[in-house]
Amino acid sequence: MKDLTPDRASLDPIEIASRDEIEALQLDRLKWSLRHAYDNVPFYRKSFDAAGVHPDDLHTLSDLAKFPFTVKTDLRDNYPFDMFAVPRDQLRRIHASSGTTGQPTVVGYTQNDLTNWGNVVARSLRAAGMRPGDMLHNAYGYGLFTGGLGIHLGADALGLATIPISGGMTPRQVRLITDFQPKGITVTPSYALSVLDEFAAQGIDPRSSSLEVGIFGAEPWTNAMRREIEQAFDMHAVDIYGLSEVMGPGVSMECVESKDGLHIWEDHFYPEIINPETGQPVADGERGELVFTSLTKEAFPIIRYRTRDLTRLLAGTARTMRRMEKVTGRSDDMIILRGVNVFPTQIEELLMQTPALAPHFQIELTQEGRMDRMRVLCEASDAGVDAHTREAAGAALSAAIKQTVGISVAITVGDVGAVPRSEGKAVRILDARPKG
Ligand code: DLL
Repeated sequence: MKDLTPDRASLDPIEIASRDEIEALQLDRLKWSLRHAYDNVPFYRKSFDAAGVHPDDLHTLSDLAKFPFTVKTDLRDNYPFDMFAVPRDQLRRIHASSGTTGQPTVVGYTQNDLTNWGNVVARSLRAAGMRPGDMLHNAYGYGLFTGGLGIHLGADALGLATIPISGGMTPRQVRLITDFQPKGITVTPSYALSVLDEFAAQGIDPRSSSLEVGIFGAEPWTNAMRREIEQAFDMHAVDIYGLSEVMGPGVSMECVESKDGLHIWEDHFYPEIINPETGQPVADGERGELVFTSLTKEAFPIIRYRTRDLTRLLAGTARTMRRMEKVTGRSDDMIILRGVNVFPTQIEELLMQTPALAPHFQIELTQEGRMDRMRVLCEASDAGVDAHTREAAGAALSAAIKQTVGISVAITVGDVGAVPRSEGKAVRILDARPKG
């Protein structure tokens, strides 16, 4: 793999500014953001008033802990535009979550917001090793989902040649990668695996492709998956994080030279980690739920938004901005099986270490009598794997899960293609337990 470390001179000065400088900027911006939200969004005025706090009560960064949280249902309750802080004619873009589980959440951007978003995504793409003039194959979905258009905005800002292919039509993905020779690919890690399978189906060695870096996010993925993808494509694999409510992709980014967690672009997004049960902030280094406050957003300021993502904050390394550890999962995705907490990423980690199994998997939850049961559907790594080897692989995975996670699960090792494929975010859990 090539060394793709960016020149220090090409970084935005704030990426490597002193902590004092970063915190001074954050404090100024935080004061503005609280005031802007309070003055222009009735929801924030009400919630601050109800909590007995006022934007003038913020004197230091830690005073933010006095302010109330915002949660996803607040956005749903204010559907579609009541969380916006600017008149309609100032809006230049709307994105929304798919809303498959209820009311969609809607977010908006002014021209300044789009410029800032483009800049943080450009910074992220540069941290991944992309340079002006490079070509990028962007396989995140275009549309209301924030991935495709968010990455595109940053690619334009950095000066890349973008192939806006979006997700799906996998044979064509491989064809264009082979013909156009992009340097980078932006895609969910689960869909990258489908693209990888398609290389094999077409008899093309992915290691011979032009790709030097893959920029993966929008869903949790493990370091074990990183090793698998890096090895299969002979390219770097780096993590990009973000969420629509806070901006979209590009809230934080792993640097290609360190791959040690994701630097949060702290000049635009102020992070906290809280204990999800008590709501109290915890110290850097301790695990908990990630909470973000926007520092510059005009159309959709967001104050202390509970992301449900679980991670911890760490000091900066390749940049002075703090890092967040790779997200292990969302509290919503945590399965509690007979009292034991399980995340799909734990299953992924163990699956990747089991020979003869492909990296695809899905977890099925059922109830028998009063007992919850979990089954992991996975598949043989290729059609040549015989029944005996499959059975042994299933038993090995089951034993590894029992030993590491402490639960008994059934494993089904299906044929190649048995696990449903996604073209965007993978559906990891099928919950067939009776509701309520
Ligand atoms: O998925 C933004 C994005 C697009 C990020 C493309 C990276 C690349 P949403 O659809 O609003 O936005 O979903 C946000 O996805 O709260 C996390 O639970 C999860 N997520 C996003 N990036 C990562 C990541 C986009 N790198 C939700 N690791 C977030 C783990 C991630 N989970």
